[in-house]
Amino acid sequence: MRMEITERLVDLRDEALSKVASAKDLEELESVRVAYLGKKGALTAVLRGLGELPAQQRPAVGRISNEVREALESALAERKQALEREALERRIAREAVDVTLPGRQRVLGHQHIIHQIVDEIVDVFVGLGYRIAEGPEVELDYYNFTALNHPPEHPARAATDTFYVRDMTGASSPDAFDSEVLLRTHTSPVQVRVMEKQRPPIYVLAPGKVFRRDVADPSHLPQFTQIEGLVVDEGITFGDLKGTLERFVHEIFGPDRRVRLRPHFFPFTEPSAEVDVSCAMCGGEGCRSCGGEGWLEVLGCGMVDPNVFRYVGIDPERYSGFAFGMGAERIAALKHGIPDLRLLIEGDMRFLRQF
Ligand code: DAH
Repeated sequence: MRMEITERLVDLRDEALSKVASAKDLEELESVRVAYLGKKGALTAVLRGLGELPAQQRPAVGRISNEVREALESALAERKQALEREALERRIAREAVDVTLPGRQRVLGHQHIIHQIVDEIVDVFVGLGYRIAEGPEVELDYYNFTALNHPPEHPARAATDTFYVRDMTGASSPDAFDSEVLLRTHTSPVQVRVMEKQRPPIYVLAPGKVFRRDVADPSHLPQFTQIEGLVVDEGITFGDLKGTLERFVHEIFGPDRRVRLRPHFFPFTEPSAEVDVSCAMCGGEGCRSCGGEGWLEVLGCGMVDPNVFRYVGIDPERYSGFAFGMGAERIAALKHGIPDLRLLIEGDMRFLRQF
């Protein structure tokens, strides 16, 4: 009896230890524990039977049983630790973050160069007390041409130069022109709209899109941005215009640049002038970047023509005013040395990111 039970214990131990050693995970290990040491386990059953042994056999068999149980418990604990370590290592490996991988960069957008230059110019004139005015991009002929003193036969009215929204054929009398609908060719019609609504003193700046039937080339775009200025007050002189433009040029291009006014013609100003700024490269000597001129044209301007005042009912005997208009793309190109205006509208980020 004693031999029998001892052998049985040794067999159970060997069997259990080999199962512990081969348990692949914690779950399997736990089921081995339950199978031998659980309430209904094989070893537990043997230990329970000890009570039935004759009294003198009990201590020896009890000792062996305890040794088997202890051996099994410590094997289970050791294997458990090993399996837990393996599981942790697997998890660490799985969740590892490679801190040497370069991050994914989020590219931040920024304001387009055209809007940047418009904002810069707006800031200069808002600083001088001007207000911002706006007008429609789809405009009446009356505001775009007639009230700006363009005669009916003026070449800018030709369908080859201006985008008409409504067909012009059938316009018989000069008055019929006025209600023609077109895409404004300049921001000057905003002058008329402002003066219709507001009495002097008027100090406004009107930035906006304009449209012309031009083929895009390095110096022309069929759609571009103009910035119009208008001042009407008592005692406004050509000297005020020149001083204002010098301030503008110095703020935008730098204090070293010089300003030159050349006589010119616009239907809505008299006298009119074109304004040049001295070339940044040669300072006025003449070089390749200014085509040998020494000067670069930046805008058109003049004193508001009395005929325009009559269209809007402002008394030209009491008030005088000046106006100016410039292309924002051209100012940006001159300021940043951009050789081709088309670059500004092509949306190539390699170009746009520079500004
Ligand atoms: N509207 C003119 C153009 O598009 C520019 C211009 C010239 C505007 C003289 C003005 C001005 O206000 O006084 O070419």
